[in-house]
Amino acid sequence: MQVKTVPTNQSSTLSYRIVGQGMPIVLLHGFPVSGALWSRVWGGLAENYTVIVPDFPGVGGSDVMPDLSMKKMADAVKQVLDNEGITAAVVAGHSMGGYVAMELVNTYPNVIKGLAMVHSVASADTDEKKEQRRKAIALIEKGGKDAFVKQMIPTLFSEETIVKQPDLIETQLKEALKTPAESLVAFYNAMINRENRVKLLQEAAFPVLWIAGASDNLIPKEKIMQQTILSSVNFVEVYGNCGHMAMLEEPDRLIMDMTDFLKYCFAE
Ligand code: MLT
Repeated sequence: MQVKTVPTNQSSTLSYRIVGQGMPIVLLHGFPVSGALWSRVWGGLAENYTVIVPDFPGVGGSDVMPDLSMKKMADAVKQVLDNEGITAAVVAGHSMGGYVAMELVNTYPNVIKGLAMVHSVASADTDEKKEQRRKAIALIEKGGKDAFVKQMIPTLFSEETIVKQPDLIETQLKEALKTPAESLVAFYNAMINRENRVKLLQEAAFPVLWIAGASDNLIPKEKIMQQTILSSVNFVEVYGNCGHMAMLEEPDRLIMDMTDFLKYCFAE
């Protein structure tokens, strides 16, 4: 695996990992961590594909970007692809990473060979969700970052995972505590301000893979199911006993489902 950086057009640098050989897949991480989130699946995918895993601005090896938005994150991902000479890729987004993927679909539709929405949706925040995020921002800005992260991380996993794999939650907590308060706030503001991109699914010229967790409290499977009938080619997988974190809770199954999807996307 190589770690590389690319300058963005926001006078900052974006870090990404690249591993494997073959047709390209980009793995976009969710909140509140870095691309390391995908560490249990990138090896399996790299056996047959080139796997590219950026760190979004303000986490991992990437610089903070002022006035962060989904568009700026999508532009940064496009710069990574340009840096690698890649004109089309399958893009997989976990949760917030899926919101960025929808922005890529909006701005650079020709880049998308297939879209994998892992515990994610194309819609914008509801007013209630925006309010929750604003309360969290207020807590973080008052010095409550660690309290916020400690409360949030266990809610991302299913009861079964919490009982059977407590190490996963511990590791994820340590990872999330590394994220600076300013980055958490920047991500939340970008999520609050994101556009509703559901219409793009109706027009999608590419296949979509949907991964839902039967015990996902953050983006419930019912919400995902409503969007799985919008585009013309959908693959839908619901993971029982899985919360919001398939890449940690069910990595082998995710590698298998993504590999099947990749084969379909790149079959000519
Ligand atoms: C994520 O997992 O990326 C975020 O928590 C998603 C969200 O808050 O909408």
